Amino acid sequence: MNFSGSHILSIDQFDRGDVETIFNVADKMAPFAKRDSITKVLDGAILGSMFFEASTRTRISFGSAFNLLGGSVRETTGFEHSAIAKGESLYDTARVLSGYSDVIVMRHPENGSVLEFSKASRVPVLNGGDGTNEHPSQALLDLYTIKNELAFRGRNIDRLRIAMVGDLKFGRTVHSLCKLLALFKDIRVVLVSPEELKMPRELVEYLKEQGQEVIESDALEESISNVDIVYSTRIQEERFKSQEEADIYRGRFRLNQTIYTANCEPNTVIMHPLPRDSREHARELDDDLNDNPNLAIFRQTDNGVLVRMALFALVLDVEHEINSSARDTIWYTAGRSL
Ligand code: NCD
Repeated sequence: MNFSGSHILSIDQFDRGDVETIFNVADKMAPFAKRDSITKVLDGAILGSMFFEASTRTRISFGSAFNLLGGSVRETTGFEHSAIAKGESLYDTARVLSGYSDVIVMRHPENGSVLEFSKASRVPVLNGGDGTNEHPSQALLDLYTIKNELAFRGRNIDRLRIAMVGDLKFGRTVHSLCKLLALFKDIRVVLVSPEELKMPRELVEYLKEQGQEVIESDALEESISNVDIVYSTRIQEERFKSQEEADIYRGRFRLNQTIYTANCEPNTVIMHPLPRDSREHARELDDDLNDNPNLAIFRQTDNGVLVRMALFALVLDVEHEINSSARDTIWYTAGRSL
């Protein structure tokens, strides 16, 4: 695809070459994200950051990524602080906000809302998560992490074996990740969920049509014994009618160090888009995994900055100019290794 000036709304937009382009640009962002160097390539540019749903890492990492490229961030969070609470349409909000920004990142609770917003926007719009539909930047950072973790083991993405565990019905990160994995070769996807929270049929069918192997299960231990990656997810409580309904599923699939040691291959990588639900009755990824070197969850969050920097650089067409304004960092930066 031609990234310059494009919206980034869905993994459907990408082919394998596009994904490789994003990852190559992300690799070049490491010195800036590690604070070895600073660049001002987006000096003067403004990111409009609009998060109408709870977010910590997606919102802050998009903002940090833009700041690390030298740009400034204007934020609005929650409907209650925006004119949408006064009845303003997405169309009007997009017309207005795109006059104030060079690029916009948006999260919204309704499926398709970011697409609708983008149609009225005068600047590129990046989808920070639309309802249960998609979360493309998360899937890109997840696959970028998978690529790096496998590279340590002398492997590449083709022939990956991955188990996705938890709320596969409402989890938008796994929806986007399935679409992304479908672009590669000989992928085996093991989908582990309660019957009621299975991966949407159209995504299972799509993976199969693309030649990937899909296995569905509701048993954790046997499903994680033969995979390179265990990708755990949180029960998406905000999508359920009540907390009580979410409670039925919370805590159903818990991975802890004992279960990991008993079932997983020694190098199986543990991932999660975060936040993990650390409350007693949930704990889909137990804290006792924190010292496990294969726990990649904080490498994922660090990689999110690189991937989001790459998306901004590509969409705003400065990926070849990054080094032109680079200079060494002069403040204390130790302990930032990615
Ligand atoms: C995810 C999301 O918002 O979809 N979080 C994130 O952006 N890393 C996953 C979740 O909230 O469970």
